[in-house]
Amino acid sequence: MRIGLLTSGGDAPGMNAAIRAVVRQADALGSEVIGIRHGYQGLVDQDWRPLASRACANILQRGGTILHTARCQAFFDPAVRAKAAQDLWTAGIEALVIIGGDGSFTGADFLNREHGIKCAGIPGTIDNDLPGTERTLGFDTALNTAVEAIDRIRDTASSHDRLFLVEVMGRRSGMLAVHTAIACGAEAVLYPESEEDTYESLVRQLKSNWDRGKRSSIVVVAEGDQAGSAAMRGDIGSAAVDIGERLKKDYEMDLRVVVLGHIQRGGSPSALDRIWGSRWGCEAVRRLVAGERAFYLGTDAGQMVARPMSYVLEPRPEPPRELGALVPVLSR
Ligand code: F6P
Repeated sequence: MRIGLLTSGGDAPGMNAAIRAVVRQADALGSEVIGIRHGYQGLVDQDWRPLASRACANILQRGGTILHTARCQAFFDPAVRAKAAQDLWTAGIEALVIIGGDGSFTGADFLNREHGIKCAGIPGTIDNDLPGTERTLGFDTALNTAVEAIDRIRDTASSHDRLFLVEVMGRRSGMLAVHTAIACGAEAVLYPESEEDTYESLVRQLKSNWDRGKRSSIVVVAEGDQAGSAAMRGDIGSAAVDIGERLKKDYEMDLRVVVLGHIQRGGSPSALDRIWGSRWGCEAVRRLVAGERAFYLGTDAGQMVARPMSYVLEPRPEPPRELGALVPVLSR
C-alpha cells in the first residue's frame, strides 16, 4: 500500500515520533510512505516525496515536524479537495495518515466521504481539545514547559511581592490553562469554558488573599478566555487593565503580565508524547493495511481507542470542572 503522510495545523511535540513510527511500521509491513510537506497545502501543490526509514533517524527527540505544517484555508473548497483527491489517485496514494487537530480531521473526513481516500488520524495539538480522546500529542510536553516557566516566574513573584498574570495557549480550550494552574499552584485560573471566573470574583479572591497576608499571586489566563487575554491585543479586552483598575484603589499590588506564547509549542517531546506518537503511528498503519477506511486514534482510560473520523464533529471536551474548582482551595 502507498500511504501519504502529513502534519497539519499547529506543530506539536511528538509529531516527529509519530512520523517515524508510521514510516517504520509501513516499511515492516511492505508498504511505502510518501511524505507530504506543509500539510494540506502540500497535497494541493503535490509537494511530496517518498520517506524512507533511514530518513527518520534521530527525529524521535526533536520538537516541531520534519514534514513542516500549515493551516490551509483552500482545503475548505470542495473543488480543491476534488483536484487533490484526483492527484492522489494518479500518484497511486490510496490512504493518508493525518497528524493534527480537529480542523485537520474535518478535512480528512471530507476527503474520505467525498472521494473514498482512506484516512487515519493521529491527534496532534498542544490544546488537547479533540473529542473522543483524553490525550493529544504535545499536550504533556507543553504542560511541562508552561509549569517550568511559571516556577521561574514564581521566584520573582514571591521575591517582589507581585501579582503575575501568565497567559498560556488555548484559543478555544482551557485544558492547558487548568492543568497548568494545578501543577504550578496558581492562585486562580481564567479559561473559556468557565462562567464563574469573572474579574469580580477574581479580584475578591486576590483581596482576601492579601488581607490574609498573601503578598504574591500567579493567575493563569487561557489565551481564549472570554473576558479577553492577559495582555492587550488590538481591541481585545485585557485582563491586566481590568484587574489592575479594580485593585488599584485600596490595594498596592504590583502587577506584571507574561505571555508564554510559542515557547509552549516547541521543544523536545516528553516521554509520554514520544510513546503515544510511536504507538499511534504504528497502529494507524496497521489498521489502514488491514482495510480500515476513516478513523482517528486516541486514548480512553489510558487505553488505545479508535473513533470514526466523523466523531471529530462531536462537542469538544472541556477541562474537568473539579480541577478548576481546586485551584483556589489549593492556594489558600
Ligand atoms: O492550536 C494550537 C495553538 O497553539 C493554539 O493554542 C493557539 O491559539 C494557536 O495554535 C496559535 O496558532 P499560530 O501558531 O498559527 O499563531
